[in-house]
Amino acid sequence: MSKKIVFIVGSLREKSFNKELSVFAADALKAKGAEVSYLDYADVPLFDQDDEYPTPAAVARVREEVNGADAIWIFSPEYNYSYPGVLKNLLDWLSRPLKEYDFGGPTALSGKTVALASIAGKSKGAGVRAKLAEIFSFEFTHNTLVDGQGTGAELAPEAFTTGVNTFSEETKQELAKQADDLLAAIAD
Ligand SMILES: Cc1cc2nc3c(=O)[nH]c(=O)nc-3n(C[C@H](O)[C@H](O)[C@H](O)COP(=O)(O)O)c2cc1C
Repeated sequence: MSKKIVFIVGSLREKSFNKELSVFAADALKAKGAEVSYLDYADVPLFDQDDEYPTPAAVARVREEVNGADAIWIFSPEYNYSYPGVLKNLLDWLSRPLKEYDFGGPTALSGKTVALASIAGKSKGAGVRAKLAEIFSFEFTHNTLVDGQGTGAELAPEAFTTGVNTFSEETKQELAKQADDLLAAIAD
């Protein structure tokens, strides 16, 4: 059976450079027979513990999709050397139990193999990748990180004004290697 990888893009922007970056990884995974899908989470509400139960429909849907995946791959912008709020909000919802009130029970993220990548400014997303790696190193969720903090790429300076970025061959190769390492990590 082919492996299912769910992609989570930490930017809701239609022309997101991180979404563009993810396409190279998707192509590399699909070339090896894996299935790739994008998690649509724009309708997940802001987390409020008062509204946790009954589970909002959008939350149940994203949990089911992530829970059914063999691995997730996060492509995220860096906001203020950290993760965007929309992404942290999603991860907070995903970190809560699959079954209502089953505290300590499994979550959609439990035991999941996780890969990280980011395209940003000069930092190459080192800040956001480090902080995401920290979340997935939290012993409670027992995650395996593929290639540590993953692939970091730098936006061409003109990309900020033109909205167009050229991705380097080096970045594409790094993503292809990370895709191979991800598939090796979840091989039967
Ligand atoms: C609120 C905000 C904070 C940002 N902070 C950083 C930062 O700390 N480091 C960085 O390299 N780029 C930073 N940027 C620039 C982003 O890297 C850039 O906007 C990028 O295109 C966002 O990713 P996207 O194209 O996938 O939406 C920031 C952008 C925003 C909107």
